[in-house]
Formats: sequence, structure tokens, C-alpha cells
Amino acid sequence: MKQPLIPASESERLQALQRYQILDTASEQAFDDLTSLAAYICGTPIALISLVDANRQWFKSKVGLEASETPRDLAFCAHAICTPDKVLIVPNALEDERFVANPLVTSEPNIRFYMGAPLMTPDDFALGTLCAIDVVPRVLTEEQIIALQALSRQVISQLELRINLINLKNNIIAREEIEKNLRNTNGQLNQTLKKLRQTQAQLIQSEKMSSLGQVVAGVAHEINNPVNFIEANLSHIKSYVKDLVDVLALYQYYYPDANPEIQKQIKTIDLQYLTEDLPKILSSMEMGTERIQKIVLSLRNFSRLDEAEKKSVNIHEGIDNTLLILQHRLKATKKRPEIQIIRDYSNIPLFECYPAQLNQVFMNILSNAIDAIEFCSKPEAGKICIKTQISQTKSLVVRISDNGTGIKDDILKSIFDPFFTTKPVGKGTGLGLSISYQIVVQKHGGTLKYRTTLGQGTEFWIEIPACS
Ligand SMILES: Nc1ncnc2c1ncn2[C@@H]1O[C@H](COP(=O)(O)OP(=O)(O)OP(=O)(O)O)[C@@H](O)[C@H]1O
Ligand SMILES: [Mg+2]
Repeated sequence: MKQPLIPASESERLQALQRYQILDTASEQAFDDLTSLAAYICGTPIALISLVDANRQWFKSKVGLEASETPRDLAFCAHAICTPDKVLIVPNALEDERFVANPLVTSEPNIRFYMGAPLMTPDDFALGTLCAIDVVPRVLTEEQIIALQALSRQVISQLELRINLINLKNNIIAREEIEKNLRNTNGQLNQTLKKLRQTQAQLIQSEKMSSLGQVVAGVAHEINNPVNFIEANLSHIKSYVKDLVDVLALYQYYYPDANPEIQKQIKTIDLQYLTEDLPKILSSMEMGTERIQKIVLSLRNFSRLDEAEKKSVNIHEGIDNTLLILQHRLKATKKRPEIQIIRDYSNIPLFECYPAQLNQVFMNILSNAIDAIEFCSKPEAGKICIKTQISQTKSLVVRISDNGTGIKDDILKSIFDPFFTTKPVGKGTGLGLSISYQIVVQKHGGTLKYRTTLGQGTEFWIEIPACS
């Protein structure tokens, strides 16, 4: 028996075969149709699509044969692919020295006749053959040979079609994967952008706060001394003025007929009115200085937030104390009924915080809620609801809502700005919320948020993380 030759460029040929991803795949109707057709046209009991691998020939499709592969050494097809430009025809294997001793000839399946048309790829590699086999010697017509060649080209077309389909499917999968990744990345980008915007807003806010804090501390310090000085002296002035007025009254009593020049001057300055008005002026000056002192206190609170100590306290006590201080503002007035306070307290353990400052936050938010109810012309009674909670992450959450005016859209961006107020001159300083923001966010690492509906009310809520 003669061993088949190895074709030139064998490794490239094997690579070409691999490219079709066909070896050891299940049978497919399209290929089986072609082998059936080959057997029919050639009138042979056996027809195969044989692919010549490194050490074997493997049958993608077969008619009339059990085996699915044979060693390459025994394969007629291995000879056929060495002459790729022509059909290998063996009319009688017993008369052909290459095959006479081949076990496939000497025993089952006892091949006598063989005709193989090489399967040529577009880049000229012979992958195997479409072959027709018989157990008796035969001679085929020219038409049969041409038909087998045509069918072998169809096998290659089918292989091409098949691999293109696989590639297409892979492409679609890859594209879908890319699209999915793109969508994910897009989502992540949006998320990052949102976070960035939030961080930026917080940075601007905290930058504003810290630079303002320094200015405020300076101004408060400078105003504090002269105001105290005025306030301290005002009480002296009051008593001195009273003494002087008393002395004047005594003079007038004991010397009613004073010198005409003095009498003329008394008339000119309207001494009667002056003595009555002077104490009133002094009282308004006192009120004025008191107000300045209050503002200075707020400013100092605002800029000296780190003085007080951190303590574990009962939050509800803090809220209740604040409400007690605000009691007089809750009472019924001529214009409105009493403001109702609804407490919705959860069971909250002692909570570590800066209590004095947190109380200040409650005070600011509650005062604003009372103001919002006061400015509201609704007939229904004012209501303030205070809800406390410990969140799943163990943070303290306090929600304070009112059914007051609500906040107009166009001022929402400003309400945390220092000195921003919509209240009448002399009523609000516009520091309440900016101080509260600083206390909650900077001092306690928490958040201060709100939601509001114009004409219906506003809810502010703070969330303060538990200390680790
Ligand atoms: N609960 C609320 N309902 C309606 N508007 C509110 C409420 N809370 C705050 N505001 C608005 O936000 C502004 C700023 O509030 P903020 O507490 O900082 O200052 P203020 O109350 O005007 O003055 P201050 O608190 O210093 O006396 C208020 O003037 C008001 O317009
Ligand atoms: Mg306020």
C-alpha cells in the first residue's frame, strides 16, 4: 500500500480547515442532501463529504457507511487532495498499486471503486472531497464526473455560508455586548455627572460658609464691644437724664418767675415736649441696641460653632425645650387660632451630637414654620408636625413640616444663603437656615433637605449619621 503524500502548504491548509469550524459538528440537512445527490447521480451505494484533518479523515456527511472517520493513512481522499485540480478516479482498487493492500479494500467495506472531487476553498486549499464509493469496479460517464465536481463546489458554498452565518451571529452577539456595555457606561457617566454636580454645589456652599464665617467672626467681634459699651451707658444716661429732668422740675417749682431770657429759651426748645420725649427716645435706643446684640449673638454663633462639646443627649428633650421657648408664638392671636404641634416621636436612644447647636437648628426651622403659618391666609388652623426616626443606617432623622405658605420656586436657590430673607425689615436676619445648614452639614456631617409646595406647606428634614 502506498502512503498518501502530504500536500504543499499543509499547515496553511489545516488552518483553512479550522477556519470553517466544521470538524466534529452534528450532521446538517444541507450537506446530507448533497451526499444523497452524489450517490444518486453516480449510482454508488456510498457517498461521503470527507474532510482531511491532520491525522484522520472525518465525514461531515455520509451515505451507506457506518464509520464517522478513518485514519488519514488509509484515506483515498488523502490522495485526492494532493491533486487538487482534478477528480481522483480509481475504477478498480485491486488493480491500483496505491490501494490494493489498503485494509479498506482487503476487508470491510471492501472498496473497489472510488471517485473524489476535491473541496477547494476560494483561497485554493483542498479541505477534503465529495466522493462516491462502490464495492464493485465501475466506470462513470463524463456527465457524472462533471456533476460530482459541481456538487463539490456546492459543498464549499455551503461551508462558506455556514461560517458566514456563524460569524454574523458572533458579530451580533458582540455588538449586543458592546451596546450593553455602552448603555452601562452611559448610565455610570450620568450617575457620576450627577454626583459631580452635587459635590460641586456642596463645595460652593461650604466654601461660601467658611469664608463668610471668618468675615462674620471679625465683624461680630468689632461690633460687640461698642454695642456693649452703648448698652451699658444707656442705663446711666437714662438715670442721669431723669435726675436732670427732676432738678429742672424743682427749679421750675421754686423759681416759677425765672429770668425772661430763660423763659424765652424754655419756650423755644419746648421744654415740656422735650422732657416727655427724651425717655421715649432712650427706650427706643435700648430696643435698638438689644436687637443689635441679638444679631451679634447670632453672628457669633454662626462663626464659632466649634466651641461647644459633643454629648449623648435625649433629642426629644431638646425639641421640647425649644418648643417651650417658642410657646408664646404658638398661642392664638386676633388673626389666627393656636398653632397645633403634632409630635410623632419614635423610640430614640441617647444620640451623640452638639446639643446646643442642634437645638439652634430646631429653633430656626420651627421659627420659620411658625412664620410661614403666620404669613399664610388659609382659614384652616396652623399645624406643625415633628417626626423623629432612626434610619436603617442608624442615622437620626428629624422631619419638621408645616402647612404654611410654602416657598416660591424663584427663591428656592437662595434660602440657604446667609442674610437671605423674605421677611419684613427688622423681623428676619436671613441667617437661620444658613446657620442650620452649617451646623448639620459641616459640624455633624449630616444633610439638611426640604420639599415644599406653594400654598400647601414645607417640610425640612435633617439626617445626622451616628458616630462610629
Ligand atoms: N418653613 C418655611 N416656609 C416658607 N418659607 C420658608 C420656610 N423656611 C424658610 N423659608 C424661607 O427662607 C428664608 C430664609 O430663612 P432663614 O431662616 O434663613 O431666614 P429668616 O427666617 O428670614 O430670618 P432669621 O431666621 O434669621 O430670623 C425665609 O425668609 C423664608 O422666605
Ligand atoms: Mg428663620
